[in-house]
Parts: sequence; C-alpha cells; structure tokens
Amino acid sequence: MRLFSSICALTSAALLGCKVVNAISLDLNDDTSIKNAAATVAYGMMKYYTGNHTGDVAGNLPAPYYWWEAGATFGAMIDYWYYTGDTSYNDAVTEAMLHQAGPDNDYMPINQTKTEGNDDQGFWALAAMSAAENKYPDPPADQPQWLALAQAVFNEQASRWDPSTCGGGLRWQIFSFNNGYNYKNTISNGCFFNLASRLAKYTGNKTYSDWAAKSWDWSYSVQLISSDYHFFDGTDDTINCSRVDHLQWTYNAGVYLLGSAVMWNFTEDQVWKDRVNGILNATDIFFQTNPANVMYEVACEPQNTCNTDQRSFKAYLSRWMAATTKMAPWTTDYIMTRINASAQAAAAQCNGGTDGVTCGLKWTQSTWDGQYGVGEQMSALEVIQSTLIGNAPVPASNMTGGTSKGNPSAGSGGSGGSSNGGGSSGLPGESNKPITTGDKVGAGFLTAFVLIGVIGGALWMIV
Ligand SMILES: *[C@@H]1O[C@H](CO)[C@@H](O)[C@H](O)[C@H]1NC(C)=O
Ligand SMILES: *[C@@H]1O[C@H](CO)[C@@H](O)[C@H](O)[C@H]1NC(C)=O
Ligand SMILES: *[C@@H]1O[C@H](CO)[C@@H](O)[C@H](O)[C@H]1NC(C)=O
Ligand SMILES: *[C@@H]1O[C@H](CO)[C@@H](O)[C@H](O)[C@H]1NC(C)=O
Ligand SMILES: *[C@@H]1O[C@H](CO)[C@@H](O)[C@H](O)[C@H]1NC(C)=O
Ligand SMILES: *[C@@H]1O[C@H](CO)[C@@H](O)[C@H](O)[C@H]1NC(C)=O
Ligand SMILES: *[C@@H]1O[C@H](CO)[C@@H](O)[C@H](O)[C@H]1NC(C)=O
Ligand SMILES: *[C@@H]1O[C@H](CO)[C@@H](O)[C@H](O)[C@H]1NC(C)=O
Repeated sequence: MRLFSSICALTSAALLGCKVVNAISLDLNDDTSIKNAAATVAYGMMKYYTGNHTGDVAGNLPAPYYWWEAGATFGAMIDYWYYTGDTSYNDAVTEAMLHQAGPDNDYMPINQTKTEGNDDQGFWALAAMSAAENKYPDPPADQPQWLALAQAVFNEQASRWDPSTCGGGLRWQIFSFNNGYNYKNTISNGCFFNLASRLAKYTGNKTYSDWAAKSWDWSYSVQLISSDYHFFDGTDDTINCSRVDHLQWTYNAGVYLLGSAVMWNFTEDQVWKDRVNGILNATDIFFQTNPANVMYEVACEPQNTCNTDQRSFKAYLSRWMAATTKMAPWTTDYIMTRINASAQAAAAQCNGGTDGVTCGLKWTQSTWDGQYGVGEQMSALEVIQSTLIGNAPVPASNMTGGTSKGNPSAGSGGSGGSSNGGGSSGLPGESNKPITTGDKVGAGFLTAFVLIGVIGGALWMIV
C-alpha cells in the first residue's frame, strides 16, 4: 500500500532522523492495489470527520467545511463501500446520514435550514439516492429510508420550481431572506435533474423523468447549457436570466452528464444519447493534454484561486463519469481513458503531509503541491475508486433487487420554501426569528465566489 524510500526500507523507519517518505502505489491491473489505495485516501479523508466524537454533532464536518460538503463526503463513503466492500466506516456514515435528515426526513435539519440552499439539500439527497442504488445497508425499519429521503427532497424541490421569473427553474437559495435567492444556479438545477432521472430509473415512475426533461429544457432555455454542451455557473433572475455567468466547473458538467445517461437508459430516446455524447465531448476542457487526460479544475487551479468548496469538485465529475459508463455503456472507453489517467496522476501526488500519503489539489503535478483538505482527499478518493467501476454491480432499482423503501409523497409535509415564487420566510421546526447579518453572510456556499463576480461584474470567463 505504501512505498517507503529506499533508505528507510533498508534501515528501520523508527530510527531517529530517518524521515519516512511515503506515496500511494496504484496498479490499475490489480483490484487489491486499487482498494488499498482507496483505503489509504479514505482514511485520510475521514480523519477530518469528528462528528462521531463525544460532544460533536453527527454528520457535520468541522470549519471551514460547509454542511453540503459533509453530504458530499458521506456520498463518497457510500460509493467507497460499493466499490471496495470495506465496511469499516458504515456505522459512522449511516449515523451521519440519518442524523442530518432532520425532523421531517428531508435533509432540512434545524441547525442548517436557515442558510440552506437547494444545492446543499441536493448533495445530501444524492448521497441517499446512491445508498438506495448501491444497496448500501438499509437503516432499521423505524428510521427514515434512503429512497424516501431522496423522494422527500425531490418533492420539495419540485414544489419550489419557480416560473415567476425566467420561465421557471430552481433558485439557489430556498428562503427569500438569504443572499443568492435571486440567483438561479446550475448546480441547484443540475442536482434536481440528476435526482429526478435516477428516481425515474429506480422507481419506474414517469413523473420523475418528466421533471428531469423539464429541468433540462429550462436550463437550456436560459443558456445555462450552451448549444455545444458547456455548463455555466448561473444566472440572475432580477434581469430575468438574460445574462449568465460563464464560469465552468467540473461538477456542473458531471451532474448533467450522469442525469442524461440515466435518462437515455430509462427512455432510450436518441435525444439523450446525443446529449451524453455532446457533454462528454465538452468535458475535454477539464482534461489536460500534457499530462494527457488528467483532470483539472480549469476555472481556478491554474490561477491558484480554488476555494474550500471548489477543491472537492473533481470528486463529483469523477463520480458521475464512472456511473455514466453503467447507464450508457458505449461511453466506457472514452471515460475510462480519462479516469484511469487521472487516478494514476492523483495517486502519484498523494505523497505529502506528515503521514506521507496526503493528497494535494493538482493532479497535473508529479508530486504533492502542498495543499490539503477534505476536498483534496475526496477528489483523489473518488477518481481512484472509480477505476473499479467495471466490476461494480449495476445500480439497483425497485425492479432489480433494490430494497430501499420509498414514499412517493414524502417531504411534502410543509417543510421549507414556497411554490411559485411567492418567497418564503417560514422555517420548519422553529418560530421565525429575526435574521442576523451573520445568518446572511453564512448563507449559501457553492457559488458565493461566483455571485460576487456577478455583482461586481469582475469575473467573466469564457473558456
Ligand atoms: C482502465 O483501467 C482498468 C483497470 O485496469 C482496465 O480494466 C481498463 O481497460 C482501462 N481502460 C482504459 C480505457 O484504459
Ligand atoms: C468514529 O468513526 C471512525 C470510523 O468509523 C471509527 O474508527 C472511530 O472509532 C469512531 N469514533 C468513535 C468515538 O465512535
Ligand atoms: C444543533 O447544534 C447544536 C449546537 O452545535 C448541537 O448541540 C445540537 O446537537 C445540534 N442538533 C442537531 C439535531 O444536530
Ligand atoms: C422572462 O424570460 C422568460 C423565459 O425566457 C420569458 O418567457 C419571459 O417572457 C421573460 N419575461 C420578461 C418580462 O421579459
Ligand atoms: C466536440 O467539441 C469540439 C470543441 O468544442 C467541437 O468543435 C466539436 O464539434 C464537438 N464534436 C461533437 C461531436 O460534438
Ligand atoms: C442500461 O443500463 C444497463 C445496465 O448497465 C445496460 O445493460 C443497458 O445496456 C443500458 N441500456 C442502454 C439502452 O444503453
Ligand atoms: C417497488 O415499488 C412498488 C410500487 O411503489 C412497491 O409496491 C414495491 O413494494 C416496491 N418493491 C420493493 C422491493 O421495494
Ligand atoms: C409517481 O411520482 C409522483 C411524484 O412523486 C407521485 O405523485 C405518484 O403518486 C407516483 N406514482 C406512483 C404510481 O407511485
């Protein structure tokens, strides 16, 4: 699992003055090597998670990590179990996933709702959806179930669909008092699209695929999706979405890629096959030619401006590219060429930190770049474990052995947000309190950096 420097291998690593230089070895022709590499990186990621320590809150990551990224982290760990079969973290992961479900079982826990965006809720729902598809162990019968949790979020977000501006779409923020309520962003709509497509595939219920199609059509109509399948960050409803912020992030391409692949698999309508091909072709902007096929975050890595959130984005493009090969099998060669090269490059630079196996941000560099954190670990974990997709089981559905219990009307119990653009200030589970500046500053995360760009007109990037 670890390569020791020759000097230390010859002597004892415990000898004074002998610095152990580790790295993660990864042999893609050997599943055991891949699983060992994933285990090392997963351990490095879960070291950040303190939510199961006495006095800490299950499911939260410590600062500076926002709540949504915890949902993404547990999604990565649900995939980790699916790919490797390693159950070491399952108890902690299940506890976190259930604790943060909140009193209404819809991923709107009281401690988070006040600043919660649709994308934040979406990342937790997608983790629950993966648990259902992966046949990750079902919670005890008296606890909320994975499928019902995903359906609850879908139902609430469908009810927040807002045609009062821009002809539809989801807003970034759920509540009108939060900054970003006027921003209709791609990741919020993309998570909803992705979730809807997968619910259709899992349950066979066409209502979900109708919503997925509607969500795609709207995103395209306001040009969050370009005619050559590039995905831009978001758009401002105070100008009726007449201009978009053109920053391109890996995770936006990824979230629509998998949703389109699932729609292809569910409908077998050629239009979705064309979209899958178009999106894949356009993801080339996220891959280097030298070193060949290595993923990078084009909008911030070269400039050294990636924030805490953005450091994790490559995890999601990796995750959703790999999952796409299951739903749209003809994409396998194209995708695995890129996943394999990226995994190899990611592992090679996980040679930093005091443990010698800390992963950095830039896979395009041959050695650790000195950066570290949950996002860096998660990205390396997802791309490395994704190389196991070939032998991983096809996602289960209700018709093919999926056991997760659903509830088609989950979540409609009055939680959160308004329908049809009336705005909302009602929070579930607590009486309305005055909103402080701190609440507003804390509001919304994923696109905060970009929002400043929209307001300031300073960031206008066309790749
Ligand atoms: C990627 O690596 C896997 C595991 O070694 C291998 O089975 C597959 O053929 C490779 N795919 C490509 C396109 O290189
Ligand atoms: C927290 O979870 C990790 C990983 O599952 C486990 O190793 C550790 O023992 C747990 N700690 C506590 C205090 O439960
Ligand atoms: C909400 O946050 C408080 C303060 O951190 C914590 O004590 C409590 O356990 C949290 N509640 C839930 C349900 O997580
Ligand atoms: C706002 O945009 C939508 C969708 O593009 C369009 O149907 C509507 O007419 C526009 N409204 C105004 C007032 O321009
Ligand atoms: C692939 O992308 C390139 C560059 O954006 C474009 O010129 C080309 O037409 C695209 N090909 C397909 C098949 O979409
Ligand atoms: C849908 O996915 C299944 C499972 O991976 C696969 O066997 C099948 O070929 C896919 N269907 C189409 C039309 O691509
Ligand atoms: C599949 O869905 C149907 C209809 O919702 C339900 O009656 C059945 O129990 C589900 N099967 C499983 C295994 O959950
Ligand atoms: C399909 O899903 C919709 C939306 O949640 C729900 O209203 C409807 O009852 C579902 N139909 C079936 C047959 O489960």
